[in-house]
Amino acid sequence: MIHKITPVISAGIACLLLAACAGGKKNSASGSLPSLSKTFENDFSIGAALNEEQIKDKKSKAAALIPHQFNVATPENIMKAENIHPQWDTYDFAPADKLIEYGKKHNIKINGHTLIWHSQMPPFARRIQNIDSFKTFFTNHINTVAGRYSGKIFSWDVVNEALNEDGTMRKSPFLSMLGEDFVTEAFRLAAAASPNTELYYNDYNNEQPAKRAGCIALIKKIQAAGVRIDGVGIQGHWHVGRVPLKDIEESILQYAALGLKVMITELDIEVLPRNFQGADVSQRMKEDASLNPYVNGLPDSVQQQQARDYEALFSLFLKHRDKITRVTLWGVDDGQSWLNGWPVRGRTNYPLLFDRQLNPKPAFYKVIEARKEFDNNKKRPF
Ligand code: G3I
Repeated sequence: MIHKITPVISAGIACLLLAACAGGKKNSASGSLPSLSKTFENDFSIGAALNEEQIKDKKSKAAALIPHQFNVATPENIMKAENIHPQWDTYDFAPADKLIEYGKKHNIKINGHTLIWHSQMPPFARRIQNIDSFKTFFTNHINTVAGRYSGKIFSWDVVNEALNEDGTMRKSPFLSMLGEDFVTEAFRLAAAASPNTELYYNDYNNEQPAKRAGCIALIKKIQAAGVRIDGVGIQGHWHVGRVPLKDIEESILQYAALGLKVMITELDIEVLPRNFQGADVSQRMKEDASLNPYVNGLPDSVQQQQARDYEALFSLFLKHRDKITRVTLWGVDDGQSWLNGWPVRGRTNYPLLFDRQLNPKPAFYKVIEARKEFDNNKKRPF
């Protein structure tokens, strides 16, 4: 028997369907969507870089999604010296304090980023000519900032990006004013100011053999001086289809052999063309439409390649879950990523696990699948 559906009933059904879809979308921001941090809770922490906007705790999709997906956060910019220490004797702690509160409220551990970095230094510090004054700035900065957050944050990226690609020390105001030992001194000061906080060295491309050798030498120097260093961060700014899995694995093994925790600290897999590797913010390329090919959307082939790259990476991290303590993505969604503005301004990049609407991308599901696959492989006899 055929039932005739009246316009009133069909409108009702349409409403129900719409409500179900809307509900589904809402759930996808938190509820029914698998949680990355839960999925990997027995393996390593899962983090994201957060900006000031994201910790305002507004009633938004992002506000629900972040605590559901991540159990550790790194401030993308607010703890950097130019923001937190803008003048010789002026500190602006308000945004970082807010982050601490946010972390407490949502049970998210905070990794401080970063005490000593040649980039985003306050302009006053760049102008210091006198070595003693520079030493005072260096000491005061670490004592004050690390001291304030002692017992409130989990860890610090104490020194960031002190090395060149060939493993030698990068030319920077720290190197020229304080000499090579500035790295060891930074760790010594941080350990004294914040005795219960884990202390890390963080860099990009330090999975590449030459830079890795320099990084290992630097770490050994800190250790030989009897100064505490707890871990090393491989930032992980990689390119779709070209993720250096072999170098990454070798680096995990070599860094762990130093007795350090290994972390992937700034993971993203970008899809746009550029003619160099790494994340040196001073390197730029000229704007050109050919460098921005996916303004209207990411082709499926690239989307799938990126998903496979993320899956391969997480499978590797799982293989070494006894050595890796944290994997942090450098942002939550594609719209937030720094890679939309670097090394070319105004591009449309797609490097993360959530899209601009905060919906999970194929890469997100592949990462979750990597965990299931890891369990399945363990159950197989051979
Ligand atoms: O805050 C100003 C704002 O007042 C101004 O209107 C605007 C105009 O450009 O700039 C804003 O500052 C920008 C800042 O991000 C906050 O959005 C800076 O120009 C911009 O250079 C800065 O970029 C950050 C970059 O570090 C700077 O060095 C990125 O957001 C941040 O993701 C990136 O993070 C670094 C890690 O700390 C270390 N490893 C590499 C990684 C990627 O470069």
